[in-house]
Amino acid sequence: MATAMGKRLEGKTILVTGASSGIGRSTAKEFARTSPQNLKIIVTARRIDSLKELAQEIKEEVGDGVQVLPVQLDVSKPSGISSFVGALPEEFREIDVLVNNAGLVRGVARAPEIAAEDIDIMFSTNVTGLINMTQAVLPIFKKRPNGGRGDIINIGSIAGRDGYPGGSIYCATKAAVRTFTDSLRKELIDTRIRVIGVDPGQVETEFSVVRFYGDKAKADAVYAGCDPLTPDDIAEVIVFTAGRPENVVVADTLIFPQHQGSATIVHKRT
Ligand SMILES: NC(=O)c1ccc[n+]([C@@H]2O[C@H](COP(=O)([O-])OP(=O)(O)OC[C@H]3O[C@@H](n4cnc5c(N)ncnc54)[C@H](OP(=O)(O)O)[C@@H]3O)[C@@H](O)[C@H]2O)c1
Repeated sequence: MATAMGKRLEGKTILVTGASSGIGRSTAKEFARTSPQNLKIIVTARRIDSLKELAQEIKEEVGDGVQVLPVQLDVSKPSGISSFVGALPEEFREIDVLVNNAGLVRGVARAPEIAAEDIDIMFSTNVTGLINMTQAVLPIFKKRPNGGRGDIINIGSIAGRDGYPGGSIYCATKAAVRTFTDSLRKELIDTRIRVIGVDPGQVETEFSVVRFYGDKAKADAVYAGCDPLTPDDIAEVIVFTAGRPENVVVADTLIFPQHQGSATIVHKRT
């Protein structure tokens, strides 16, 4: 028997950016598990092979009730985003939920030593990419009755609330996500469009491997002696927010593993 949340999500079309790994990948799977009877999920990222594997894994786990469409999309390239919605197959165009998850951190450099390329990649992905995706999808939401209907779920971070040394650019991008999210909710107050912020603390994904330019040993050291969240932990929160009754907006969330108290206060076992 379907849960109330599963029923509320039935028939929806979900779009998840950055679904080739980590939180995005888990989110696509969690949506499929929660509403396996009748759901469409568009999964996007740069690594198309990983998205195709994800589509296959979802099919094997929940069957044909969930249709998954893998689409290669680099959110840091505005031209790809502007043609993205129009190029979707007709049956996937009525997007109901946008999960703006694609994002990354590069390096631990401090000013004035931060590479211009890293600054550009973080801002064009985490900020401009998220804004461009939102602007591409919002017209679909706004065509619906009562000013519009749909969910925009923006993945921020504790880093957007609590800047830390060696993370200034990443923190600034996530602060921008937080402010954009809050402003957007106010701009859309006379609609049924829900604008939701999900701010994770420490989650073990490919995030730190990307931060250290592929150095897995350095990434593993970040998580040594503690128990970070898993991407599934965050996926459950994301799906929960989308699965609330229409009048309930989970506007803001901050999710820590038990040993974390701020961006930098993390208890490690010796
Ligand atoms: N892990 C944490 O501790 C943590 C904490 C707070 C917030 N977050 C946020 O959570 C989100 C997901 O990160 P994660 O931890 O799951 O890391 P991850 O495992 O590295 O996943 C990041 C995803 O973003 C995609 N991506 C990166 N650049 C992209 C681009 N230009 N265009 C399209 N997709 C792009 C990647 O796909 P491709 O490489 O295939 O493009 C990948 O699927 C990010 O916004 C991150 O800032 C993470």
